Amino acid sequence: MCYFRATNYRILSDIIQLLPDNIANQIAAGEVIQRPASAVKELLENAVDAGADEIKLIVNDAGKALVQVIDNGRGMSETDARMAFERHATSKIRSIDDLLRIKTMGLRGEALASIAAVAQVELKTKREEDETGVYIEIDNSIVKVQEPVAANKGTSIAMKNLFFNVPARRNFLKSNAAELRHIVDEFIRVAMAFPEIFFSFVSNGQEVFHLEKGNLKQRVVQILGNNYNAKLVSVQEQTDYLNIFGFVGKPETAKKTRGDQYFFVNNRFIKSAYLNHAVMNAFDEMIAKDSFPMYTLFVDLDPAQLDINVHPTKQEIKFEDEKIVYAFVQSAVKHALAQFSITPTLDFDLDPSIQHLEAVSKPLSEERKSSTASSSLYQTFSQKNQAHFIENKSELKHWREFYEKPVKDESAPVPVNLQHSLHVDKELMTEKPADNAELLQVHNGYIVVQNDKGYLLLNQQNAHERILYEKFQLAMEGRSIATQQSLFPVTMELAPADAVLLNELVPDLQQLGYQLEPFGTNTFVIHGSPADVVEGNEKMALEKMLEQFKHFSNDIKYSKREKLIRSLALQQAIKAGTTLSRVEMQALVHELFSCDTPNITPNGKPTYMSFKKTDLDKMFGR
Ligand SMILES: Nc1ncnc2c1ncn2[C@@H]1O[C@H](COP(=O)(O)OP(=O)(O)OP(=O)(O)O)[C@@H](O)[C@H]1O
Ligand SMILES: [Mg+2]
Repeated sequence: MCYFRATNYRILSDIIQLLPDNIANQIAAGEVIQRPASAVKELLENAVDAGADEIKLIVNDAGKALVQVIDNGRGMSETDARMAFERHATSKIRSIDDLLRIKTMGLRGEALASIAAVAQVELKTKREEDETGVYIEIDNSIVKVQEPVAANKGTSIAMKNLFFNVPARRNFLKSNAAELRHIVDEFIRVAMAFPEIFFSFVSNGQEVFHLEKGNLKQRVVQILGNNYNAKLVSVQEQTDYLNIFGFVGKPETAKKTRGDQYFFVNNRFIKSAYLNHAVMNAFDEMIAKDSFPMYTLFVDLDPAQLDINVHPTKQEIKFEDEKIVYAFVQSAVKHALAQFSITPTLDFDLDPSIQHLEAVSKPLSEERKSSTASSSLYQTFSQKNQAHFIENKSELKHWREFYEKPVKDESAPVPVNLQHSLHVDKELMTEKPADNAELLQVHNGYIVVQNDKGYLLLNQQNAHERILYEKFQLAMEGRSIATQQSLFPVTMELAPADAVLLNELVPDLQQLGYQLEPFGTNTFVIHGSPADVVEGNEKMALEKMLEQFKHFSNDIKYSKREKLIRSLALQQAIKAGTTLSRVEMQALVHELFSCDTPNITPNGKPTYMSFKKTDLDKMFGR
């Protein structure tokens, strides 16, 4: 009896307990710190908020071993340094109203608490006014060391061995190459927004970025590469409701990947498919359907018009009125493109309801009224059926031609030496045409070839893609590919992020017949390339391959090597529009039917169709 009562008592007693801080923090950290790059973002943003004008990022082992950010900002007092690691401890907001005025990157007071819950942290910080600084070591949310230290003004926070105490998450991290790419992305997103701050980024002892202070244009070029130097169109519009400034790339710089697209709202990088659409719409028919223009655009507006607290990493935000922002962005970009005379006459198909919105039609504050009213964007909104005229007709003509004529793709390494036949011993396919079959090229893109049952229609580009793909597969397995030495070694300078990527691909590219090696910061020397690549095209072929590779890079189905050989096959396949000689056609057909899977491209497009003679006869009632 007694026994039962005791048990019942235990069952009925209260069972809810507060979690110890370190466990609570660890759980909360799951949202904020997902990978080394998340810590990079948080630490860089803290350094920016601290008013630093020099910020250095150091990572080892793609951030898995170390992420350290050193700044020359205002530093922290001894007490603040301890407080900083508490959850919900922040100097940036004091009341809910402050959220409506937020100018800083941070606001929740969660980042450092989260980092300290999933890593070992070493903090060194000193304010200008203090004689000595303070050094703190924290492990798993527990302070291990706190002592005075000699230090310069500013803060250094080192995060070591991320997820050392959460093995499941540590194992979940991707390869160093993949994690490093995430870090580069986050670094760029912060560095791009603050060109007035010097940034440096050192990975495993090598300086990957060294970004001197400058203006936005200089920063864009420093980050995205010199190619953009003369290819940027400035976007700048001021209105009472919001300001837009930044750059879009001229249409010719549009790429296959989304890579170089940055949208910032109040200096915060955000992901917004909606606003991206606004920019894409502004480019309209100036770029090919599947290509992406470069843009770096900053929208500044009253923080009260925003909710940045909808996502743990703050990369998604909510606008009070998304439609207005969309319309402004689209018009501003169209207008910029029009001013640079590279777009035909514009018609602003604005939703009339937007034109009548207060913020658009009636600037509210008197001071800004005149400047707003005279801005071209405002006029765009307030005039009806307005049209922009192109001053410089010759540029326009150029662009018309560009889009009307089929452009010969000079980058396509066309004359692949098809006679360098590949022999894969296997049974001949039943559909394989006889070696001496009649061949006919039609539309410079298809080959008609007869076999004993009827005829086949080959798409030359798809067929060649399949051939190259299998050839590269064999090369990866050790069957070497002939290399031709370049007469003159070619140097290639890349944007830092691309250089990181190419560096990672060098060993595989060597196996595929490229002789190339890193040569100083972000530069590579190409000594030789696969025999198939036309001399002089080496650089272009590699650049295109990188583009293609990035295009695949979110595809988790494929290994790095698989992405590489798919990219190369796509890039190097002879394009439609290339006239082939009889010998080349023969080699193409022969090689295709020597493939393991001759009927489709690596991503499943048909390489040929067969038309049976019996079916043809039936069609004609014979
Ligand atoms: N590099 C730094 N220099 C000076 N103070 C810093 C630095 N990093 C953090 N702090 C101080 O520590 C506090 C806590 O930082 P933490 O990143 O955890 O939160 P937050 O930046 O306020 O908000 P969020 O969680 O949104 O980032 C900050 O509010 C700031 O006062
Ligand atoms: Mg912060």
